[in-house]
Amino acid sequence: MEQQLNQLKAEMLQKIEEATNLKALNEVRVAYLGKKGPITDLLKGMGKLSAEERPKMGALVNTVREQVTAELETKAAILEEQAIQAQLAQESIDVTLPGAAMKSGNRHPLTRVIEEIEDLFISMGYEIAEGPEVEKDYYNFEALNLPKDHPARDMQDTFYISEEILLRTQTSPVQARTMEEKQGAAVRIICPGKVFRRDSDDATHSHQFMQIEGLVVGENICMSDLKGTLDVLTKKMFGADREIRLRPSFFPFTEPSVEVDVSCFKCGGSGCNVCKQTGWIEILGSGMVHPNVLAMAGYDPKKVSGFAFGIGVERIAMLKYGVDDIRHFYTNDVRFLSQFERAEG
Ligand code: PHE
Repeated sequence: MEQQLNQLKAEMLQKIEEATNLKALNEVRVAYLGKKGPITDLLKGMGKLSAEERPKMGALVNTVREQVTAELETKAAILEEQAIQAQLAQESIDVTLPGAAMKSGNRHPLTRVIEEIEDLFISMGYEIAEGPEVEKDYYNFEALNLPKDHPARDMQDTFYISEEILLRTQTSPVQARTMEEKQGAAVRIICPGKVFRRDSDDATHSHQFMQIEGLVVGENICMSDLKGTLDVLTKKMFGADREIRLRPSFFPFTEPSVEVDVSCFKCGGSGCNVCKQTGWIEILGSGMVHPNVLAMAGYDPKKVSGFAFGIGVERIAMLKYGVDDIRHFYTNDVRFLSQFERAEG
């Protein structure tokens, strides 16, 4: 019996040696160590042995089984490793091949202008406010001192959703909303956003465009604060040697109202095609918040005052980057959009 066992062991080790893959190895394990295998048979046949031989033989069988099992495990590990290596070799990539270049996007020029202006005003202690694009007639007009029949509504004829709801024509409704929210407390905000007007679309007009509203309300806020703030803004956007000029204007929600011009950054003021030979370029509307607007939002116009301004983002971007048609901003042409990364260096 012992001889038989040794022969079996040799046979098993040989088969293990010969197995070239995990499946074949498993077959060897099942064939020899499984329930129907020769080892089990041997164990079953031990009943025939004498009481002396039985433990000796039992121990022997167990040793062989352990040796074979250990051998199976070692071989399995080797085969697994080989399988992984084979797969890696098959899947390996040639890192010396030229790669497909990834195109990276960049920020839209309007986003650049907005972020630059936001950063500036945040540095001066302003908060960024937001308001809805679909707005109530009340906030877009009435709370801004433009009652239902006010003729100045004509200038901002717009898209009505219903009698009382419209696409906002300006970011100014955020003034009224913010003041209402602050309940008499001081305000210092800017609000970038989309606005809509029934406008003819041409090189300088679009039925949808972007504005940045600014509003400061508090004690002793005066015109010189407005002028100083706008001066900082224009120098930041167009260069340290730019001057600003305030011209009388009209907005129902500011009194007095001014239109703000910046000295032409191309000719420096002597007159060229950018400034239409005037030396000045109009960039925004502004003024001191009208007492009626303050009162409607729950502020006492005798105690507090404020200033507001509205910047056309496209206009700033066109001037800053020398863009000649507003429609370039909306057509998503990569040839146009990819130029701005370089423009700022
Ligand atoms: N909302 C005005 C416009 O769209 C601009 C403006 C804002 C004027 C704030 C004065 C104060 O024309």
